[in-house]
Parts: sequence; structure tokens; C-alpha cells
Amino acid sequence: MSSDVELKNIKKRFGNVEVIKDLSLTVERGQFCALLGPSGCGKSTLLRIIAGLEQATEGSVSIAGNDVTNVPPAKRRIAMVFQSYALYPHMTVAQNISFSLRVAKAPKDVIQKRTAEVARMLQLENLLERKPAQLSGGQRQRVAIGRALVREPQVFLFDEPLSNLDAMLRIQMRVEIAKLHKDLATTMIYVTHDQVEAMTLADKIVVLDRGVISQVGTPMELYQQPANKFVASFIGSPTMNFVAATTKGTDGANVTVDLPGGHPITVKTRGAPQKTGNAPVEVGIRPEHVRLVGAGDPTASLPGTVQLLERLGNATIMYVDTPAGQIVVQDDGDAAAHTGENVGVLFDPARVHVFTADARAA
Ligand SMILES: Nc1ncnc2c1ncn2[C@@H]1O[C@H](COP(=O)(O)OP(=O)(O)OP(=O)(O)O)[C@@H](O)[C@H]1O
Ligand SMILES: [Mg+2]
Repeated sequence: MSSDVELKNIKKRFGNVEVIKDLSLTVERGQFCALLGPSGCGKSTLLRIIAGLEQATEGSVSIAGNDVTNVPPAKRRIAMVFQSYALYPHMTVAQNISFSLRVAKAPKDVIQKRTAEVARMLQLENLLERKPAQLSGGQRQRVAIGRALVREPQVFLFDEPLSNLDAMLRIQMRVEIAKLHKDLATTMIYVTHDQVEAMTLADKIVVLDRGVISQVGTPMELYQQPANKFVASFIGSPTMNFVAATTKGTDGANVTVDLPGGHPITVKTRGAPQKTGNAPVEVGIRPEHVRLVGAGDPTASLPGTVQLLERLGNATIMYVDTPAGQIVVQDDGDAAAHTGENVGVLFDPARVHVFTADARAA
């Protein structure tokens, strides 16, 4: 695979606030790359730098092997889809979709053919004569995507395109965008603060934390091997549990941690060997990797009392009080537990993460 978008040492300052801090990133041709992070972490700024709508303070941007750092947006062969679709209200769907081709004075038959193709791809064929006011939110967003699609860009840039839609429509559009990517095999860079969107759509997720890349990986890499506490807590729902603990000892490949009021757990480490003994750490375990066992069960990591049950139908979320704090547990929909029940809380040691005092995964 060749690289399609390459950012080298990008820095962006607004006044004296550094919003992007020496960021380098490569997106391969045909890849679906999600830029994921909380509000204000610099996602849109980075996307706008790739689009050329914002000039980086330092660093370079290449698209398809060409340095475009000083190339205006219209010449970058990119198309951008925003959260607010901003269609031309007085134009029909067909006119909105074909707008850029008409501006570029493309031949009439080309305009017609491309518009028809795009309309077919996005199931807008029956809506071509309508005005935006006569469309639903999802249909409007499809038109906005169509307007980008018709230009046959080298790279698609999406900035939270689904966040104005209701939950049901968002899922539907997500599937459509995934299908579009599969059909077109065009490079896509997709900004979102919704980890589910990033997990389901992307080949590669870039997690941004205050203008710095926190981790880059496939969805499952980020889920299974988060590099730090920030990524661990951002990916996955319900959120990972964190428990303050102390290391008891290590043999280099494994570390044993003491849970307050519980039994020690021995965990395989991923990174550098731990210092032996008595280092403060945090143990991370996802709700779906905790099981309830009987009260007093010697295999339990912690004793606990079920405080609250949420029956979601397909799953039960349980809030369990333990000496180490509240632990969220996810079990089957028909889990037999009940409020007030004394239980044992069992962490699957193969799924336990250990974070050192600097929040890195051990
Ligand atoms: N034109 C600007 N002038 C000054 N500060 C700006 C400007 N644009 C963005 N910022 C600041 O840069 C930071 C990053 O903004 P950005 O819009 O990239 O965040 P984001 O990750 O897209 O957030 P959101 O999820 O809320 O859209 C924010 O602190 C924001 O206030
Ligand atoms: Mg934004």
C-alpha cells in the first residue's frame, strides 16, 4: 500500500495556544482512518489542515505523494463533508449534487451521467427534483455526501457527518458510509468523538488527546491493547473499570498486583518489566471481562455487594460495591443476580490491564 495522506511534524498555534503539537501521521491509499478524541482535542483543526482550509504553523501535508502544504483547497483533490450539510436551499437535489461539476463547466452529458451514478449509489434517484426543505435529515446528509462524491476526489474528509441525526438514522447512515467505502475504495479520513462510529467504520483509528496522538491502531488493537489509560477509558462501553492497586512483585513477564481488600492478581505485562514491589498502579478491567461468583468464593478477586441492576434486554449492567470501589459488571440479559446480593467479583486475569503511575500500560 502506498501512502495517500502524509502529515509531517504538523504544529498549529492559535495565538500562543498550541492546538496541534508536532503531529506526524500516514494514511494509506484506500484506508478508512478515524480521528477520534474528545471535544476540543484538535480533530477538526487537523482535518481542516489536510483540506487546506487552515494553514499549519509548521510542518507539511502531502496528498498522493505531492506536497500540498501551500496548495489551495480546491486544488488538493479532496472533498469534505461537514456536520451541518449546508445544501443550497433554492436548488434541487440534482442541482446540489452536480453543483461543482457545473461550476467546473463539465460537459452536459458528463454532468448528467455522474449525477445519475451518484444518485443511484446513495438511493436518491426518486428525490432528484426535490428541494432540501422537502428532505429528511438523513436524506439531506446523503445529498451532502453526493455533492462530495460527484467530484471523484482522491481523499474524502468527513467531520462528524452524522452527529446531527437521531440515533436510528445514525446507525443506518453509518452502514451506508461503510458500504460506500467498500464500493469506492477511496481513502477516507473521518473525524468523530463517538468511539462506536470509529470502531465500526475504521481500518485505523488515531486517538487524539489535546493535540497529541495518544495511540494509532486497528479497532481491536485499541480495545485489546490500549497503550495508556486515556485510550483505555475512551474505547469501550460501558467504560473500563479502574482500581488503585499496588505491585507485589514481578518476574519480568508477569506482574502481581494487590487489590485493596481483595486477592492478588498475576497479569502478563506487555511493556517494559515492572519495578519490583510496592509501586502504585491502576488495574483496568472492562465490565464484560468481570464475572460474578458466589460470596466467599476463594477464586474471587474482590468481595462485593450488588447495588444496582440495569436490565437492557440483551445485557445486564451491574454496579457492585467492593472494598476497592464500585465495579461495573456486564453480564447476560437474564443474569440471575439481584440488588443487595453479596457476591464475589472475578476479574479475568488475561483481560486485566495494569497502568503505571504515568498512566501507561505496563
Ligand atoms: N480559529 C480559532 N481560533 C482560536 N482557537 C481555535 C480556533 N479554532 C479552534 N480553536 C481551538 O482549538 C482547539 C481544537 O479545536 P477543534 O475544533 O479542532 O476541536 P475538535 O476536536 O474538533 O472538537 P469538537 O469535537 O468539539 O468539534 C479548541 O480548544 C478550540 O477552541
Ligand atoms: Mg470538531
